[in-house]
Amino acid sequence: MGYFYLNYPLFNLEKVVIILIVTGYIMMIGINERWDQMAIAQINVAVVGCGVISDIYLQSLQDKFTITHVVACNDRNPEKMRAKAAKYHIKAMSYDAILADPDIQLIVNLTTPKAHYSIIKQALMHGKHVFSEKMMAVELAEGQELCALAKAKNLRLGVAPDTFLGGGIQTARYIVDHALIGDPLSVVVSLNRNFRVYADIFPHMNQRGGTLPFDTGCYYLTALASILGPAKQVSAFGRRYQPERVGQRTDKPWFGEKSTVADDNILTATMAYQNGVLATVHFNSENILNEDPQMTLFGSAGILKMGDPNNFDSPNYLTKQLNDPVKFPFTHGFLENSRGLGVADMAWAIQQQRPHRASMEMAYHVFELIHGMYQSAETGSIYQLQSTFDRPTPLPTGYLDNGFWGPTEESALAF
Ligand SMILES: NC(=O)c1ccc[n+]([C@@H]2O[C@H](COP(=O)([O-])OP(=O)(O)OC[C@H]3O[C@@H](n4cnc5c(N)ncnc54)[C@H](O)[C@@H]3O)[C@@H](O)[C@H]2O)c1
Repeated sequence: MGYFYLNYPLFNLEKVVIILIVTGYIMMIGINERWDQMAIAQINVAVVGCGVISDIYLQSLQDKFTITHVVACNDRNPEKMRAKAAKYHIKAMSYDAILADPDIQLIVNLTTPKAHYSIIKQALMHGKHVFSEKMMAVELAEGQELCALAKAKNLRLGVAPDTFLGGGIQTARYIVDHALIGDPLSVVVSLNRNFRVYADIFPHMNQRGGTLPFDTGCYYLTALASILGPAKQVSAFGRRYQPERVGQRTDKPWFGEKSTVADDNILTATMAYQNGVLATVHFNSENILNEDPQMTLFGSAGILKMGDPNNFDSPNYLTKQLNDPVKFPFTHGFLENSRGLGVADMAWAIQQQRPHRASMEMAYHVFELIHGMYQSAETGSIYQLQSTFDRPTPLPTGYLDNGFWGPTEESALAF
């Protein structure tokens, strides 16, 4: 009896402790299971091309986005490849080894345009999804082949630019989609640069497939494509100004080398979109370094002056009848340099089995549009576009970076 009374409270305490341990264990299993369901299934990525643009891609894909996991890089220049691998703590691998690695699902192609076709084709042939820097290829037929291959293999092909997913252009699209300028009627685009300087740093800019309309014009035409949809006709005039060049920079291996500009470096064009909008385009790579980027959309109830579509935070000025222009607040996030956003959107799209936004169809259409300008300038006839695409769905509004006080910007891709 004495023994029982002495030990009863202890007995109870043991019971309570055991119940607590068992309950805690069951809860932990539950939490773990839930955690496993919630965990983001990352996509393993390899980057090919370790040049100037690769740093921002690698930073974004490693630090900004949770959906991507960069495992390796490659460059035909072994020194550049090893330096980049060491900097980002990833593996330096031959392209053959990357292609043969079953754990690598997606290849990000950051090589120069001449190499794009071959890098993309090999990746698709080895069952990898690809996101490529612009343009997808040099020749139209190559682009067609790559799109057909991706489709046949049921693989994703996404193509830059992805700046149209930034807060600037997404806000412009919001303004147009919400009829704040009424019916969009006409557009004026102007882009000037100085390729006597640029192409002396990046020689591909004076080579076929790398000239101003392809290299930088694509930002404007992709932004417009995402807002207005496909074009149907284009006509153009072209001029090749001082095509003979000599490498001027003593710090480059091509110092003193002679080269010839591959295509017209000044183009003016007019375009008709399928939705009836008419556009006037001016591309001049032989001007001065002070850029004067213009992209203005005129509607039945307002004017929308967009900023430089090469940036993620291009500002939007809305003018209503007899009012002063008003700077429109950003409706979307990704205002800082977010190159790689198209890759992250594609990675989320793979997981969610939805279309990715920087689609090969839209990219091919823009590629055909620029080729159409060159063809029209050469033949003197109007070029009829053969391709079309569905406008990518806009990103959901409201995912601005509010730090602790809200979801992350990346959440905009996840829902
Ligand atoms: N530099 C920019 O500001 C910028 C901005 C946006 C987009 N881009 C685009 O990004 C791409 C790369 O531009 P970049 O400025 O980094 O050029 P870059 O010349 O600095 O780098 C390109 C790299 O690709 C490598 N390369 C070329 N062919 C290869 C191959 N077959 N296999 C492996 N590696 C190969 C080169 O050795 C080089 O290191 C281009 O398509 C360009 O249009 C550049």
